[in-house]
Amino acid sequence: MRILVTGGAGFIGSHLADRLLARGDTVVAVDDFNDYYDPAAKQRNIAGALRSARMTLVKGDIRDAALLERVCAARAFDVIVHLAARAGVRPSLEQPLLYEDVNCRGTLNLLECARRHGIRRFVFASSSSVYGNVREIPFREDARIDRPVSPYAATKAAGELYCHNYHHLYGISATALRFFTVYGPRGRPDMAIYKFTDLIERGAPVPFYGDGSTARDYTYYTDIIAGVEAAIDRDLGFEIINLGESRTTTLAALVAIIERALGKPAGIHPLPLQPGDVLLTCADVSKARRLLDYNPSTTVEEGVARFVEWYRRRQ
Ligand SMILES: NC(=O)c1ccc[n+]([C@@H]2O[C@H](COP(=O)([O-])OP(=O)(O)OC[C@H]3O[C@@H](n4cnc5c(N)ncnc54)[C@H](O)[C@@H]3O)[C@@H](O)[C@H]2O)c1
Repeated sequence: MRILVTGGAGFIGSHLADRLLARGDTVVAVDDFNDYYDPAAKQRNIAGALRSARMTLVKGDIRDAALLERVCAARAFDVIVHLAARAGVRPSLEQPLLYEDVNCRGTLNLLECARRHGIRRFVFASSSSVYGNVREIPFREDARIDRPVSPYAATKAAGELYCHNYHHLYGISATALRFFTVYGPRGRPDMAIYKFTDLIERGAPVPFYGDGSTARDYTYYTDIIAGVEAAIDRDLGFEIINLGESRTTTLAALVAIIERALGKPAGIHPLPLQPGDVLLTCADVSKARRLLDYNPSTTVEEGVARFVEWYRRRQ
């Protein structure tokens, strides 16, 4: 297959590119290498993939409709996997207009490319953030998501709506995957597992928001990649599907797991809960099991141990 992967130099995008190349697909990655975190890390992420003759990297911005038009006109893509986004929750409170521009306008630009160039399948990276503080646990895809608690969440919910719109109007097969806190090697340095590992390793205190009872469904990247791959290979019409681990780990337990993996105690810097944070995420993954044969298999203990191994190797 010929696959356009936006955000292809990022954490999830670069792993996906590796996986697709390994199975024989042709991949074009579009990424603007912005400095939300160190662009050199993105260069390292993508270095292996670039050794393949079936890999092309286009440095550019998904807000640039003319650039996307050139990329799509030059190749007959079978699928667009749209992962590029401003992805942090807390920074979206400071720069809501930037988030809207990249995450909403950028998504529309890509859907327009799909429409104009007859690209029949679109896989969109949505987020567990769209659930906000939904009360019914675990989160099911049919829960109401019209109460977002951050600009980031609102942009992801909007992306899902646009996906449905283009499916309805133009028959594009669109699958929105709601990722639940993804972690692993190449992980984003702004996310808890990476940040805490780094601080504990360096003997610095970890910011501990609230009383430690906030909880997340942490999903190891290999499970997420398997789910994305399955979505790439299926024509599902329009679907929204959770990709999580369906277990939750409290902040306090996560710190203990990282301490064990590092063999070092954490210093704690207590802080109040941040506006925009959700209290808990927990995925119901029965739909993913049914439609994507999704079967998450990495526990957070195993995954953190593997992450720490990678983290230490690359220091
Ligand atoms: N990591 C998670 O836990 C998680 C959870 C839910 C959803 N998601 C979503 O999954 C996707 C991938 O996330 P990630 O963790 O790999 O993040 P990431 O920041 O590592 O990857 C995103 C990539 O997109 C690129 N990008 C950003 N804006 C761009 C633009 N305007 N033009 C071109 N490229 C641009 C970035 O340079 C980056 O390489 C995002 O859409 C994110 O919102 C991630």
